[in-house]
Amino acid sequence: MCKTGQTERPDILISGAQIVSPREEGPLVLPKGDIAVSGSKIAYVGPSPAPPQFQGAAKVIDGSGLVAMPGFVNAHTHAAMTLFRGFADDMPLMAWLTQKIWPAEARLKANDVYWGTMLACVEMIRAGVTTFADMYFFMDETAKAVDRTGMRASLSRGLIGNAPGAEQGLAEGKELCERWNGACGGRITTMLGPHAPYTCPRSFLEKVMEAASELGVGMHIHLSETEGEVRECKAVHGGLSPIELMATYGLFEFPVLAAHCVHVSDRDIEILSARGVGVAHNPGCNMKISSGIAPVPKMLKAGVRVGLGTDGAASNNNLDLLEEARIAAFLHKLASSDPTVLAAPEALYLATLGSARALRLEETIGTIDEGKKADIVLMDSRRPHMYPRHDMVSHIVYSARSSDIRTVIIDGRVVMEDGVITTVDEEEVLARAEERAQALVLK
Ligand code: NI
Repeated sequence: MCKTGQTERPDILISGAQIVSPREEGPLVLPKGDIAVSGSKIAYVGPSPAPPQFQGAAKVIDGSGLVAMPGFVNAHTHAAMTLFRGFADDMPLMAWLTQKIWPAEARLKANDVYWGTMLACVEMIRAGVTTFADMYFFMDETAKAVDRTGMRASLSRGLIGNAPGAEQGLAEGKELCERWNGACGGRITTMLGPHAPYTCPRSFLEKVMEAASELGVGMHIHLSETEGEVRECKAVHGGLSPIELMATYGLFEFPVLAAHCVHVSDRDIEILSARGVGVAHNPGCNMKISSGIAPVPKMLKAGVRVGLGTDGAASNNNLDLLEEARIAAFLHKLASSDPTVLAAPEALYLATLGSARALRLEETIGTIDEGKKADIVLMDSRRPHMYPRHDMVSHIVYSARSSDIRTVIIDGRVVMEDGVITTVDEEEVLARAEERAQALVLK
């Protein structure tokens, strides 16, 4: 509330930092700028020093030697799968799932999901990820971990429509939306999470769409991840690809976040673009599991809302979105035999504003702009690999490490300060997650 004759002082002032922020038209690079934060929002971004009304903040962060950029947005993950990191690697997809992951997942309890997600949140904050889109189960526990760590997240309960417990799953998915959509001052948003077309028959998807319509939420789904999935879909559904099939069912009448979209045709890309479907590209996971290479340059050219995700830590094996941006740039240059493809500014865009657009949160996050939520990361640029100073955007994508990130602000709250997580006891999180993970795999 403004008092007559004077303006409220900001809560945080970041002074004299180099500011790098993606924009639709290309990145903003301000060699020496200030950012003022009032409450949960950015009140000023511009040259340093900020005008007098933005001075006198309760907390001043000296930005010299630091790069300020918007927090990364992880557009697709299963956070609690950190518990299975390194538990089973280098296996064919189906053997990996049926022999290792699914049996272990069947033993998961609510408390496991809580500590697995806490571990994921701490890891993501350290890597400058401020928002993530998650699909899993025991999602109340995920929401609690998001609440406690101070992160921002879009949560969905994964729904398997062709297995026992499908109705129960849908009921839990709806409850999650009712209980948590808009919670924690808006940090948590929700979606419904039909897992994939091959696990959710039409009759089940009809129910999911009815619920989405009632609740006013979108959907998070896996689409066209593997060649086999597309082949089978076409064989069963009269030649329709999973994306064509979903269009026929009316799924894209809703806001949809589609993970993977690796094996897509030109017609599929047309549909994704025309229907505003968000695509979470997970290059690290796609490479590790040998799923294939998504035609991302083509999708971007067609105007598809593409963002970047890590997928779960069992198949990546970390939640480092900066690494994902670099992998994406390298992969698509190699795949297209064209080094001009996915240049550094575009890779940075994908990890921030691109992912925000995929989640339909671009009005709120994804750039450093006045009026947007204050989700800001400060990276130390005084490292040998950040010199000389030819091009900071290039350095961020091609040379920086996520461990260069020192301070992270989410929703106007400092959640990591100079390398120390402020919201939770990190040592405790590591110990409890280790304990839960060992108990799960030893049984
Ligand atoms: Ni996934």
